[in-house]
Amino acid sequence: MLTKGPKGTKDMLPAESRKWNYVEEVFKDVCRSYGFNEIRTPMFEHTELFTRGVGDTTDIVQKEMYTFLDHGDRSITLKPEGTSPVVRSFVEHKMYADAQPTKLYYVTPCFRYERPQSGRLREFHQFGVETFGSHSMMADAEIISLAYSLIKRLGLKQVELRINSVGCPKCRKEHRRLLKDFLNDKKDLLCETCQTRLEKNPMRIIDCKSPDCQHHIEGAPMMADHLCHECREDFHQLQHYLNSMNIPYTVDKKIVRGLDYYTKTAFEWVTSAAGAQGTLCGGGRYDHLIEEVGGPDTPGVGFGLGIERLLMVMEAEGVYLPEEQGDDVYIAAMGEAAIDKGLSILTQLRELGLRCQMDMMNKGFKGQFKQADRLKSKLVLIIGEDELERNEISIKELATSSQYVVSMDDMKEKVLEALKK
Ligand code: HAM
Repeated sequence: MLTKGPKGTKDMLPAESRKWNYVEEVFKDVCRSYGFNEIRTPMFEHTELFTRGVGDTTDIVQKEMYTFLDHGDRSITLKPEGTSPVVRSFVEHKMYADAQPTKLYYVTPCFRYERPQSGRLREFHQFGVETFGSHSMMADAEIISLAYSLIKRLGLKQVELRINSVGCPKCRKEHRRLLKDFLNDKKDLLCETCQTRLEKNPMRIIDCKSPDCQHHIEGAPMMADHLCHECREDFHQLQHYLNSMNIPYTVDKKIVRGLDYYTKTAFEWVTSAAGAQGTLCGGGRYDHLIEEVGGPDTPGVGFGLGIERLLMVMEAEGVYLPEEQGDDVYIAAMGEAAIDKGLSILTQLRELGLRCQMDMMNKGFKGQFKQADRLKSKLVLIIGEDELERNEISIKELATSSQYVVSMDDMKEKVLEALKK
């Protein structure tokens, strides 16, 4: 028990965190180039934010939240997603009073009590972006384009964009009635969850993974075919912008998303490269969420992309990752006086920004050279008694095995020269 992490969690060991840092740097770079600024919000929020924001009929709120009472008897929830906390912060800090749009990005852990499997964790991480304040479909297209830039920069090929419109409360009311009429006499044939959904949130039945439910919704009225004039126009406009931006997509009327706050645009980037959990990125527009959590009537649009899934897809597609950098310098020293000198050189070289290390396991010269090899060091600086006496130091360039002696006074200059080769 003590030596095993909790179910659904994953340690990020150095080999993995190197890839993580790389994708995070690319993500941040893409966000900056689109004019987004970083926001960081706390790991936990008042539970009500999610019951209101994500929606109390969703799987997340009904079954998956990590909720507890704190010592002050407040109900607290570890964030299951990134959007609601960013919206809360937007309202709390009155960012709506600034010139709009507000464009924010984040990297955050999320917590959902789901049945763990490959690509599905209880603690996972998201890259997310949110744009507040624009009703224009240009904001939706920009968000989608940002995800596309990231996917292209990382070299992924087997990822596809699917888009849909989930309408607005006005047109959804009529669609809900039509869908309920269609499914009413099939109610007993649906899975237990969908029988409840039929009453509370029938559109979610379209998204059910059960093959039986999928069979029974064949021919059901789809939201995209029953949009009001404004939603239909917006959906056309979005496709027009995506065409202008050369972003390939497919309209998939079955995309309904698992969170209640969406209006109009809903989209997913899906892949078959990473097994059962095919959705890499999901997002859309949410024009009433900000008002729902107590802010002024302000539209929003964004996406969340699972970092663990991203790394899985990259692995499955065998895409390029930058090589691990070796050390610049290894200092091999024997004897107390040489070690003292070595420590002083180590400090000076680190101050120059070089990556250098020295033995702390009491190894002989042979063992120290082996370690230098393992660390992929470019140079080994050798300090023995002879070198010390003559105020000199030997430099060995590991790539060519050439070795030469330099005066200790020229050491920094010669090291930098050798590293440039
Ligand atoms: P979501 O679809 O629930 O949307 O999650 C977004 C992404 O997070 C998924 O596509 C997936 O890659 C990843 N993800 C979700 N659950 C898990 C899990 N249990 N294990 C591993 N990865 C997972 C949202 O969270 C919305 N906040 C996205 C959004 C932002 N919409 C507008 N703005």
